[in-house]
Amino acid sequence: MILSAKDPTFEVTQLPALPPAKTVLMVRPTYFDVEYVINPHMEGQIGTVDQSRAMDQWQAIHDTLVSLGLDVKVLDGVEGLPDMVFCANQSLPYINQEGDPHAVMSHMHSHHRADEVNHIAQWHESRGVATVDLPQAGDFEGMGDALWHPGRRLLWGGYGYRTDLSMYEAISTLVDAPVAVLELVDPSFYHLDTCFCLLNESSVMIYPPAFTSQGLELIESMFDRVFHIGEEDAMERFALNAFCPNGRDVLLQSGSSETISTLQSAGFVTHEHDTSEFIKSGGSVFCMKLQTWA
Ligand code: ARG
Repeated sequence: MILSAKDPTFEVTQLPALPPAKTVLMVRPTYFDVEYVINPHMEGQIGTVDQSRAMDQWQAIHDTLVSLGLDVKVLDGVEGLPDMVFCANQSLPYINQEGDPHAVMSHMHSHHRADEVNHIAQWHESRGVATVDLPQAGDFEGMGDALWHPGRRLLWGGYGYRTDLSMYEAISTLVDAPVAVLELVDPSFYHLDTCFCLLNESSVMIYPPAFTSQGLELIESMFDRVFHIGEEDAMERFALNAFCPNGRDVLLQSGSSETISTLQSAGFVTHEHDTSEFIKSGGSVFCMKLQTWA
């Protein structure tokens, strides 16, 4: 496990290659709503979701992903599970060194979301993906907190709100890759995917106040380019919950002007999407999809 900038005994470019995951799952927001409060963004939002706007916003993201050549699979939402649309959270897909697809299943922090995990496990299994249970008790919220480094067998692991640090030792063994762990220290940035956006093998965007100084040092030591994004885009627009599926195109909340100009000056192509209905629940583009190798 990699805890600080002094720990890595390798260069990222020396790690085994990880092929791109070209299949993407999305869960239709038929039953999406804010029905309880489990993060600061949900406060005051109970019952405020406009379902038909949410469906249109979701469909637009779906269509952009299809237009970028991804193989998008759609699963219906389940009544009574309003957060299931955030399908990055219930599992962590991986391939072993032989290339066989697997998924580690999550232990959701909140009981409100616990039943989502079985539905996503069934979906993986129906497609021939072996699901793997964590060998110990404790919280782990899948690709909300555990993010694959683009192109390399290295996992970035956020912890502090939804995932326990103690889970990453076991996860590292299961997925057969080192885990670089980052403590999260601001409750508004409760998942790593809210403040840390991987763009390609050498570039990442971050919201620095969400991390400790040790975490920031580690990030700076592992990337050539670390783009710092300010509070307005990161907090109000969830701009770092962006999704870059191919090292070039980036889908993100519309109106994130600082982030968009940072990305465009660095040569990325931006795709603006209104995700305002989902931001009421504390999510945007990244957490509304799951990438898998099957
Ligand atoms: N309401 C959901 C929750 O609090 C939102 C999850 C968003 N997911 C994410 N990876 N940021 O659990």
